[in-house]
Amino acid sequence: MSRPTESIHGQWASRWTFILAATGSAVGLGNIWKFPYIAGENGGGAFVLVYLLCIAVIGLPLMMAEIMIGRRGRQNPVNTLRTLAKEENKSSSWAAAGWIAIVAGFIILSYYSVIAGQAMAYVFRSFANVFEGVTAEGAHHIYLSLTHDPERLLAWHTVFMVLTMVVVARGVKSGIEKFVKFVMPALFAILLLLVGYAANTGVYFSEGVHFLFTPDFSKLTTNSVLVAMGHAFFTLSLAMGAIMVYGAYLSKNTSIFKVSMWIAIADTTVALLAGLAIFPLVFANELTPSMGPGLIFETLPIAFGHMAGGALFGGLFFLLLVFAAWSSAISIIEPLISWLVENKKISRRRASVTAGFGIWLLGLLTVFSFNIGENWLLFGKTMFELLDYITANIMLPLGGLLTAIFAGWIMSKNNSTDELGIRVPLFNSLWRILIRYITPLGIIIVFLSVIGILG
Ligand code: PHE
Repeated sequence: MSRPTESIHGQWASRWTFILAATGSAVGLGNIWKFPYIAGENGGGAFVLVYLLCIAVIGLPLMMAEIMIGRRGRQNPVNTLRTLAKEENKSSSWAAAGWIAIVAGFIILSYYSVIAGQAMAYVFRSFANVFEGVTAEGAHHIYLSLTHDPERLLAWHTVFMVLTMVVVARGVKSGIEKFVKFVMPALFAILLLLVGYAANTGVYFSEGVHFLFTPDFSKLTTNSVLVAMGHAFFTLSLAMGAIMVYGAYLSKNTSIFKVSMWIAIADTTVALLAGLAIFPLVFANELTPSMGPGLIFETLPIAFGHMAGGALFGGLFFLLLVFAAWSSAISIIEPLISWLVENKKISRRRASVTAGFGIWLLGLLTVFSFNIGENWLLFGKTMFELLDYITANIMLPLGGLLTAIFAGWIMSKNNSTDELGIRVPLFNSLWRILIRYITPLGIIIVFLSVIGILG
């Protein structure tokens, strides 16, 4: 099988379109909903530090590797890995790594959509001024009235899945540029407004900053390190084939290093801003940082409920969050869609309907984990927690490990260097050392510690 020089799905209009689309993929619920609550559950500062470290030494080199592999293979992750393995005269069973990515994406979108649905419900609540003057207790009840109602959750989950599949059916590239160009800056602006609001809480703001940035290593467990690493993958959209397929649509003369830096910086900044907006509110309202997935839904309404123009800003904030989740969701499913179109020769439309229906169905497990299935526990976790744990903390690091080995050991130095196109030889060597040794070793050490073999 020879290497295609262009993806059958076309190419990004420019380097900027790619950066916007990949940032749209990276910035999503992971930054605003998930990062604050897992930082809260894992004790703050030390966790945040490990997370930042994982972004730098594992996430960034891997993102470069994924874009590089995608651009060289120019197909869905399964075919790309098979083609590139053949190019190196290596086993075509490397294609299996593409499958792990696709399956992880399938599972992740099933719960991602339910949470995005919750954000949609909050758009309406905000604009309807439901949060006016709300107390912490009131916000808690508003959240429960949504999550304890399976019908509503199901309805919103359905709406979000339909919206996602409509965009996917039309092709990821048409429209996404305009969309992300507007959403990202606006989201950023409202986040800054929220941080400004939080900064006015005086001592509580310092308490929030202290919680996020002063590492207390006694609070760090080996499992927290795994969660931090898993989140680095999740938030950068890595190991799910998303960045790899987006890379397949990238033109040859774009600097992979530069675009990766942009994406990682934008993504990390949004997460930290979200943390800075939320934790001061947690302390000011005597809430606990470890309250779980409801954290943003129970804290931010308090801020919106007390600021001038809060109904408008709140509505806009949740709307932008939905948009950010939307641009992530379409990238989560793109690897599977491109596989269906390329290998099963069906239309994008049919592929979207089929994949969308399967994911919607699996999403029911998450819908019910908040209400009638609250007590359906496996290994002490609800169905939602289990799906999240297996994907983010096991499948993504595993997929990342395989990607690193593939880029560093299976691909020849010539081919990877040629595709990466880094001009400074020192940077090239640095990337190779990271991807060959540091990234895989980091992942393996964390894994072994969790199983209890190390540490
Ligand atoms: N990175 C997205 C977020 O943080 C989620 C995502 C994961 C998107 C994997 C694409 C692929 O919300």
